[in-house]
Amino acid sequence: MTLRELYKIGIESLKCKSDLILLMENVFGIDKLHLITSGNEPVKNVDIFFEYLERVKNGEPIQYVIGETEFLGIKLKVGKGVFIPRQETELLVKIVSDILGDDFSGNIVDLCSGSGAISIYLKRRFESSNVWAIEKSEKAFKFLVENAEANNVELNCVLGDIFEELQKFENETFDLIISNPPYVKTKDIEFLDKNVKFEPKMALDGGDDGLDFYRKIIKFWKEKLKPEALIAFELGINQHSEVFDIMSESEFENIRIFDDFSGIRRIIIGSKS
Ligand SMILES: C[S@@+](CC[C@H](N)C(=O)[O-])C[C@H]1O[C@@H](n2cnc3c(N)ncnc32)[C@H](O)[C@@H]1O
Repeated sequence: MTLRELYKIGIESLKCKSDLILLMENVFGIDKLHLITSGNEPVKNVDIFFEYLERVKNGEPIQYVIGETEFLGIKLKVGKGVFIPRQETELLVKIVSDILGDDFSGNIVDLCSGSGAISIYLKRRFESSNVWAIEKSEKAFKFLVENAEANNVELNCVLGDIFEELQKFENETFDLIISNPPYVKTKDIEFLDKNVKFEPKMALDGGDDGLDFYRKIIKFWKEKLKPEALIAFELGINQHSEVFDIMSESEFENIRIFDDFSGIRRIIIGSKS
C-alpha cells in the first residue's frame, strides 16, 4: 500500500490530522514533507501502522503508542506508567526560568518529577545548577533516569515519596522548589477523558479536594527553602485562590499567579520570607 492510501484510511478512523501525521512519521520514518511529496510510494511496516492506529482509536494517548513526546524541544521517552508532560508545564518552567534569569545557578528540587520534563529542562537551561528530581513510582522513575541519560544531563534522581525522603535532605537547602503535583480531586478521576485514564492514577490523584500535595509540600518542604527562595507550582482549574491562601498563611511573599493560553489561572509562584 502507498502512503496516500494509508493516510486516507487513517484519517477516516482518527479524524485528528496531526496525530495521524505523527503516527505515520514514526512508523515509516518519514517527515511531513515526504508524506506530501512522495505519497505514491509503497511502504513497509503496514501491519504496525494498523496496530498503532487501532490503539489510538481505542483512546490510548498517541505519545504512549509511539513511545515518545516533546517538551520544549526536548525528546522524552514515555509509556504506560508515566505521566505525559503537558503544554501547561512548559509554561511553568518558562515563567520560572524567566524569573530566575540567565545567570542563575543554584540548588533546585523538582518534586513529583515523572518523566523528568521539568528537571531535565532546568538542568539544561541552568547547567551549573544542582538539580534534584524525586519520584515515587518505580515505572516513572525508570523513564526519568533513562530520559536524563538520553538527554545528557546529570540529575540527582531519588526514587521515593517526597514526604518520606525529607530526612535525606537534612543538609540541603534550595533556591527553587518546583512541582507539577497530582491535583485532580479523587472523585473526579472517573470522569476524566478516556485517554487521560490511561495515565497512572498516582499521577492524578490530589486527594478529596485536589489540594493535598500543595498543603503538604508547603508544610513539609518550606523549611528546606533558603530565605527569599522560590516555590513554584502548576495548578488545576480553580485552585489558585486556595493555594494562594495556603501560601500566604505560610508566610510566602510576592505571590504571583499566571494564566495559561486558555485563560486558566495555572501557575503560582511565591518567595519565602
Ligand atoms: C502530574 S504528574 C507530573 C509529572 C511531571 N512533573 C510532569 O510535569 O510531567 C505527578 C507525578 O507525581 C508522582 N507522585 C505522586 N505521589 C508522589 C509522592 N508522594 N512522592 C513522589 N512522587 C509522587 C506521580 O507518580 C507522577 O509522576
